[in-house]
Amino acid sequence: MRVLSGIQSSGKIHLGNYFGAIAQFLELQNSGNECLIFIADLHALTTVRDADKLRELTRDVALDYMALGLDPSNPNVALFRQSDIAEVTELMWLLMAVTPMAMLENAHSYKDKIAKGIAPEAGLFTYPVLMAADILVYDSDEVPVGKDQQQHLEIARDIAVKFNATFDPKYISKLNEAKGREDVHGILKLPRARIQKATESVVGVDGEKMSKSYGNTIDLFGEDKPTQKRIMGIKTDSTPVEAPKDTNTPVHDLLKLFASAEEMAEIDKSFREGGKGYGHYKQRLAELFFERFGAARQKRKELEKDPKAVEDVLAKGAEQARERARIVLDRARRAVGIR
Ligand code: TRP
Repeated sequence: MRVLSGIQSSGKIHLGNYFGAIAQFLELQNSGNECLIFIADLHALTTVRDADKLRELTRDVALDYMALGLDPSNPNVALFRQSDIAEVTELMWLLMAVTPMAMLENAHSYKDKIAKGIAPEAGLFTYPVLMAADILVYDSDEVPVGKDQQQHLEIARDIAVKFNATFDPKYISKLNEAKGREDVHGILKLPRARIQKATESVVGVDGEKMSKSYGNTIDLFGEDKPTQKRIMGIKTDSTPVEAPKDTNTPVHDLLKLFASAEEMAEIDKSFREGGKGYGHYKQRLAELFFERFGAARQKRKELEKDPKAVEDVLAKGAEQARERARIVLDRARRAVGIR
């Protein structure tokens, strides 16, 4: 199976990103599937308007994923930049020709932005068509995404059906035969969304959902000292050391993400019995954090020193991806009559 995913960087990644999505995503490469993973720099252009910033964000995603274990030496894995595959933008135009305006006008992400008073540009409006091209150009079978991207996946499928029906005279009768019981592939293959487990909500240092916009994150690749400080600063109540403690507190919830089942059973017991201060638990959490991510943090530092190595990975990934994209674009070009 060919699995495709795009990542749009939003800056520093934190525990919420990791346990919510990245960890599940990294598991895919070990499942024997072919994994095409790209950094959606063209999509980022709908919001980032600073060339250095865009380059930095793109590089950060590559570093983060490689440090966390995405393995480009695995022949099943390709990590690349969206913009390196010109086939994507060409297919986008072919798709635009059959994309109904109403479909895009109904996209939630677009409507939300307008509702916020943002003056939309054509790039924002056609964002879902570029995303459809991303997906369709590689004959992708599955696309793991969060719930927020589900509609974009449906749009990609609808555009594929419309394209197939428009340019393949037999497609409609094939569709009718299938009576909606199965996916009917045509010039373009219909992708399936693989909605990731409800983005496990990770609690932030203040007890709210961990989110960059709340400023309550624990970043994966922050410097040692501020990270330790951040963990020691997790919000707690004023229960005295000897007294039993409330397990419904951020430090307890965060420990659950890191501690083994046995250790967690002991932690639960000592919360109920009392005798240890919150500082003790935070200290343990910090230890577990550095144990879990120590190797990745080290690896990221090394990768940072070797930008050429990262570039090489992206270049090789682009080659792998382009090879696949050419086949599909060639089919689409012939189908519409520009070849
Ligand atoms: N829009 C996606 C997001 O914001 C990123 C993305 C772009 C993507 N192209 C894609 C995801 C293709 C999956 C497949 O997360």
